[in-house]
This record gives sequence, structure tokens and C-alpha cells, in this order.
Amino acid sequence: MKTFVVLASGTGSNFEAIAKATLEKKIKGEIKLLIVNKKNAGAIEKAEKLGIDHIYNNFKDIDSVINIINGINPDFIFLAGFMKILPEKFIDAFPNKIINVHPSLLPKYKGLHAVEQALEQNEKEIGATIHYVDKDVDTGEIIMQESFNIENLDLDEIYEKLHKIEHRIYIQSIIKITEE
Ligand code: GRF
Repeated sequence: MKTFVVLASGTGSNFEAIAKATLEKKIKGEIKLLIVNKKNAGAIEKAEKLGIDHIYNNFKDIDSVINIINGINPDFIFLAGFMKILPEKFIDAFPNKIINVHPSLLPKYKGLHAVEQALEQNEKEIGATIHYVDKDVDTGEIIMQESFNIENLDLDEIYEKLHKIEHRIYIQSIIKITEE
């Protein structure tokens, strides 16, 4: 049985999807802790409903976060809408253990507002990527990607479809890396 820590900043729909997949045993592992860096993160309520331990940490003292996670010694750390660039010290502390979800077909459109960046370039296909986290932003090894056509979709429809894909491929990626 693998163990996980999840980091989130916002709504937490990816966190919720992963958590449900662990509780339903689709993923053979357990989320030991959710860490949020925003006090009002929607992920907190979702963790409470699902009975998953959670703490707030502003990530200003990165050694304290590393110590907390080392105390758990998880197999993987999943970033699920975690909107802060992690310092090199953190990345170095957990080599090949940190995974992220990004709302573009990397290597295209790294960083913030990836969907808007793609729309500005008149892309007809966009998508989501699950990837390992390395020292640069959104550059690590890709685990899984899925694209879809956005012609005839409005922005709400685009985000709805994107999130569904993110949740599905995040779960599939976790199954893949935990069963390798
Ligand atoms: C997702 O679109 C993810 O790709 C991006 O932030 C968003 C988080 O959504 N990194 P949620 O908090 O998981 O609902």
C-alpha cells in the first residue's frame, strides 16, 4: 500500500478525485495528509467530508514543510492545483516523488493562465498533462497527456471538459506509477 501527501491551494477538485479513487480502492494507496497553503482553500472542506487529515502551512519555512513530509515518508507527493513554485531545496528533498497536473499540452504553454495562452494562439486542440516535477516550471518528464477539440465550446465548457480529463488522467497516472 503506497502513501501519499497532496498539496493544494484552491478548489481541490483534483485532490477530491484522487482521494475518492483511493477510498474506492481504484488506487492502491492512501492520502496521509493534505497540505494547503491558502486558509480558504476549497480543498479543506473536501478533505473534511472524506475524512482525510489536513493542515495549513504558508510554505514560508520550507524546512518545516520538508520535516512534516519526511515524518510521513510518502511514496509520492501530488500537486493538485498548488499555485506556488516550490524551492529547489524542496524538489531535492523528494527526487522523482513529486507529480503535477498542468492544464496544457506541455511543453506548450507553461506557467500561469495556460488555457488563455492557448486561446490567444488560436489553438483548436488543448489538453492536460500529468508530469514529474523538476527544478524548472512545468518541464519534468511527462507521464500522461490527453487533448480535446475546443472548436464550438465556450470557456465554461472548455474548463468543464478540461477538469474531467485532468481528474481521469491524474488517477490513471497514479495507478501507473504505483503499480510499476
Ligand atoms: C487545475 O486546472 C490544474 O491543472 C491547475 O490548477 C487547477 C486546479 O484545480 N494546476 P482544482 O483545485 O484541482 O479544482
